[in-house]
Amino acid sequence: MPVVGIERFLTDDDLAKTLRADVREGLLAEPKRLPPKWFYDTRGSELFEEITKLEEYYQTRAERAILVGRSAEIAAASRARTLVELGAGSAEKTRVLMDALRAAGTLDTYVPVDVSGEFLAGTAEAIATEYPGLRVHGAVADFERHLTLLPSGPGPALVALLGGTIGNLHPEERAEFLSGVRAGLRPGDGFLLGTDLVKDPARLVAAYDDAAGVTADFNRNVLRVIDHELGADFDPDAFTHVAVWDAEREWIEMRLRSVRDQRVRVEDLDLEVSFTAEEEMRTEISAKFRRSGLERELAAAGLSLVDWWTDPAGDFALSLSHPI
Ligand code: SAH
Ligand code: AVI
Repeated sequence: MPVVGIERFLTDDDLAKTLRADVREGLLAEPKRLPPKWFYDTRGSELFEEITKLEEYYQTRAERAILVGRSAEIAAASRARTLVELGAGSAEKTRVLMDALRAAGTLDTYVPVDVSGEFLAGTAEAIATEYPGLRVHGAVADFERHLTLLPSGPGPALVALLGGTIGNLHPEERAEFLSGVRAGLRPGDGFLLGTDLVKDPARLVAAYDDAAGVTADFNRNVLRVIDHELGADFDPDAFTHVAVWDAEREWIEMRLRSVRDQRVRVEDLDLEVSFTAEEEMRTEISAKFRRSGLERELAAAGLSLVDWWTDPAGDFALSLSHPI
């Protein structure tokens, strides 16, 4: 029998409460906004997996190429016995790193963490089956709120946030998150971070506005989540997908644009909001990084960047940091 356990820090109650607070605050804000973590119910997670296979979405392939080339080095540098993966999703690429950690003879415990509960359970089961003897302790948790509660294992630990997910946090949230990660690290532990890099805006926009419309469907999924969880009557087809590059802040912004004047009722909040035709609501930022800026942000959180690897095209970077 595979050794697998799942702990829920984000209970259905807590999830509903947090979603309610975020949706109320976001729909009453000017301009309206919704946090990207709510894209990810099971359908949202599946749509993200589809995105990773799109021609335009180079990030997953680039990060995988780095992992294939550098995992032995990462394993040697970290000697990790416990791998904690925040926002693990399908952990598809993570297996490359896990193979290297197993080959180095160190990996004992894997802790995948994700808000998408059902999807996480599938990942944890699959990994436990594929890696006999590995202890798998999944956590349905919000890495912005539950870092101190996560299951732990024998040290040294390697905490990983792959896929460029850190780019979905706003700069203030990022600083808080990095400090939280730092606070949980002991001497000898490491932090492995995947970051998408600043590049030609046309390629960036294409990556967030693919020809097949999968990203548009992913973007609209947040409306389906709110309909389902909070009894709202958003019509996803009444919103179009928008992706724009903000050159000053160096992030992609995804928005949903209302196709007409409309009113939406959110039953569980006893709230009615109006959208004017063409009104845009922000649903995600995806920040792109440069080494110097990231190094500064890590240092401000008490983390020292010790290794930096990019793919041959210089599209994406993986960095390894240690607590200062
Ligand atoms: N690491 C995978 C998946 C990236 S998609 C990869 O590199 O391909 C982002 C993942 O983070 C999703 O699975 C989503 O459910 C999860 N996620 C987003 N915000 C989160 C949060 N605040 N706490 C925990 N998981 C989160
Ligand atoms: C998970 N995250 C890093 C993705 C990104 O690229 O910002 C989410 C995504 N949004 C649109 N496409 C993919």
